[in-house]
Amino acid sequence: MTGFASDLTHVAYESPDIVALYAGPDGLQEPEATLLAQLGSSLGEIEMLDIGVGGGRTTRHFAPLAKTYLGVDYSSAMIERCRLEFPAFRFAVADARRLDFAADESYDLVLFSYNGIDHLDAVERQMALREMHRVLRPGGLMVFSSHNANYLPAIIDRFRFRIKPGLRETLRSFKWSSVFWLKNGLLGYRMPLAAGRVHDGTHSFRSSGIYYVRPDLGVAELRQLGLIDIACAGNESREFVPGDHPGLRQHKDPWIYYVSRKPVHG
Ligand SMILES: C[S@@+](CC[C@H](N)C(=O)[O-])C[C@H]1O[C@@H](n2cnc3c(N)ncnc32)[C@H](O)[C@@H]1O
Repeated sequence: MTGFASDLTHVAYESPDIVALYAGPDGLQEPEATLLAQLGSSLGEIEMLDIGVGGGRTTRHFAPLAKTYLGVDYSSAMIERCRLEFPAFRFAVADARRLDFAADESYDLVLFSYNGIDHLDAVERQMALREMHRVLRPGGLMVFSSHNANYLPAIIDRFRFRIKPGLRETLRSFKWSSVFWLKNGLLGYRMPLAAGRVHDGTHSFRSSGIYYVRPDLGVAELRQLGLIDIACAGNESREFVPGDHPGLRQHKDPWIYYVSRKPVHG
């Protein structure tokens, strides 16, 4: 247990079915593939911290190429799995909110992939972002993805009760629609939501909620930390656009990859 508010999520990530879920897929998401291609041979000079490494989906692509690699996760079961699968690489149990093991400015690339950061509430998210920033070397890259608040109408639609061709499916739709609205009672009044937590059905609701943020506000969070060269890509896109792109505010992909750089001391 972490002692933090999101323990329901942590419990899920320790359970064998969820570990198996993340130990399966091994492909990179499109923006991650772009990042890997752009880093190219420079990855050989890079000390990388892979936060929320899960079953090691990103490990197999980044770790063999990086100068050094450390994968961390607050789920000891995930780390155990990674150690079994990738004995050549280093892993540790650690929480993104307190990267106590890491000295200031000790990594060139800090990655928190596949929306892992969204399991944190607004305050905890800031803790994690500050920690990621702290351990990043000047000139280093901070990369993570986060759910897009502009996608919430699609989530709401997904949980709309529907009469289906069969009774079983209709009852199933009723069940999940009821659970969704029991857990998100006031969501209708919060829409359009700019940033906040939603119970979106992740892991069949075995979660304390998922943080959604509008992409322009996600960019603003990074600017506030002093990060520069901010660029964003929808989860299905290989193209990054600058963080001040006017289309970002309306961008509708389910989640957004954010890449940013810590400035070199002046
Ligand atoms: C959606 S899974 C993604 C796993 C992996 N990165 C992937 O792309 O397949 C999110 C991961 O983040 C981890 N995680 C969530 N909150 C965390 C925290 N505060 N500190 C460290 N890891 C965390 C979870 O245990 C889980 O393994």
